[in-house]
Amino acid sequence: MKHFTQRQGGLNVLGPGYWNKFYNDAKGKSAWGNPTRLMLGWIQTAKPEGVNRVLDLGGGDGRYAIYFAANGSHVDIVDSSKAAVKALIRLSEEKGATSTDVAGQKRLGFPNGGMIDPYAMDVMSYFSGSEGVEVTMFDLILSSGLLEYLTPNEVKYLITKLQTATKPGGMNLIIYLAQGEEVSDIPGEHPHVAGSVENLYGDEWKMIETTDTTRPDTHIIMHYNGTVSDAPETHSHRIIRFIAIKNEELPASD
Ligand SMILES: C[S@@+](CC[C@H](N)C(=O)[O-])C[C@H]1O[C@@H](n2cnc3c(N)ncnc32)[C@H](O)[C@@H]1O
Repeated sequence: MKHFTQRQGGLNVLGPGYWNKFYNDAKGKSAWGNPTRLMLGWIQTAKPEGVNRVLDLGGGDGRYAIYFAANGSHVDIVDSSKAAVKALIRLSEEKGATSTDVAGQKRLGFPNGGMIDPYAMDVMSYFSGSEGVEVTMFDLILSSGLLEYLTPNEVKYLITKLQTATKPGGMNLIIYLAQGEEVSDIPGEHPHVAGSVENLYGDEWKMIETTDTTRPDTHIIMHYNGTVSDAPETHSHRIIRFIAIKNEELPASD
């Protein structure tokens, strides 16, 4: 049994210590594999002209960030695991990206002009301004497998922030674990009430896709007392995915 540092301030959430080990164990390979085709299909259908500014929250070692930057987008990726960001840099370099320093912030430039600005920090700090990051406006904001590590109040705060940072006509792609009949038994994760995240999107947003699926998974899990299982354990995840498009601004009336 091993102990890992837990993130303070939330419920019993998995902290960067857990994730650093996870990405170090991947030993130079992409820990999450390729971007999900279903997600890319949704994005391409919604934005056939492509996306310029992209924000990937809890983006891990960058399967989505690298995909979009390799196709010419400018991506900000935020992840609190330093090992994830290190792996992202190495995997980007394998795709021909080179690192530069822009005002003390690393930037990865891809051969076709795409780029990634990686931020090794908590997503709450990224939006709070406490780290001096200037948040811009994005065409696409992705959050894949992040919200279950935040409390419901943190999710509310974060969704408000990312809605504000979305350009009119831009989109949010959210994937989160929800409570089901068979709730994930990973105490470090905090599955949310199904529908509670979609409900944060009001009239200014159009839901274009949603799926709700339950699938088994087997991996090492952390128990409530902070210990980690020695062997993988089978449990199930209920996964909700949706895309919300922000309405274009209405022309001002006379
Ligand atoms: C399940 S992984 C998903 C990775 C990536 N989004 C993907 O789909 O390939 C969750 C990621 O969220 C990151 N994470 C968890 N809590 C975070 C927080 N509060 N701020 C920033 N990143 C966080 C972890 O370090 C991890 O890389």
